[in-house]
Amino acid sequence: MDKLEKLRNDLYMCDEVIIDMLRMRCQIVQELVNYKQENGIPTVQPQEEERKKKSFNKKLEDYQYRKSIMKVYDRILYQSKRIQSHELFDLNVFLIGFMGVGKSTISAALKEVFAMDVIEMDEIIAQRNGMSISEIFELHGEEYFRNEETNLLRECENKKNQIISCGGGAAMRQVNVDEMKKSGKVVLLTASPDTILDRVQASHDRPLLENNKTIEHITKLMEAREPAYLKAADIVINTDGKSAYEICEEIIAKIQPFREEAQAKAEAVKTEEVQPAQA
Ligand code: S3P
Repeated sequence: MDKLEKLRNDLYMCDEVIIDMLRMRCQIVQELVNYKQENGIPTVQPQEEERKKKSFNKKLEDYQYRKSIMKVYDRILYQSKRIQSHELFDLNVFLIGFMGVGKSTISAALKEVFAMDVIEMDEIIAQRNGMSISEIFELHGEEYFRNEETNLLRECENKKNQIISCGGGAAMRQVNVDEMKKSGKVVLLTASPDTILDRVQASHDRPLLENNKTIEHITKLMEAREPAYLKAADIVINTDGKSAYEICEEIIAKIQPFREEAQAKAEAVKTEEVQPAQA
């Protein structure tokens, strides 16, 4: 065997070990996330990731390709997060609720912890129209904006494992709620008018609140919307006084029965395909 052939051979063997190890790693991640679920242990533990990265950086301290290896390791961790999200969700999660309840904050937290894709509805609509939400309302009117929301929700149907952070009014249209239910579960976030006022005070991109940021106005609008929000929701979570991670945990826990139900349905369909029912 000449030198080149031997080196190629060694490299192949090395890659084989890496692939086998990665496969084993995926299985462990799957088992770990399910074990945590079954035993009521918090799924979200970002400090674990930091601890491991620190220790590996130290281990490779003097190695010239430390940065390259750590970049690969980052990708591995990223894919691990996505595996966890597949184990825990495997459907779209639509976050609905009044302005300022924290839909964007919770989407960002779920993205950080599970590397899930986030559809920030207001942001996408603003981007597509090349102007802010306030400008869209002013220039084209609310009806136009609401149609943009419906169109965007229709696009969500083809992918799973996305977090869709809906604009506060999106769940007011039944057609939008119907779209949400086709591909996922609807999580209603709530907060008290005081909390809402506190959170929206500094922003100026909420045309329905601008110039009327008062407890009275917020309470009135919230009460008017409440029946539609509750009707749309599969899960309701109050966010007052809770951290983003605590709310993520609550979403995970409350979504599990729906996920199990979906799995059972998929299994039943599979069985029926193998053994078609007698006519
Ligand atoms: C709206 C909420 C806003 C935005 C628009 C209308 C509403 O989104 O879509 O200003 O009708 O409640 P946020 O809930 O993200 O603030």
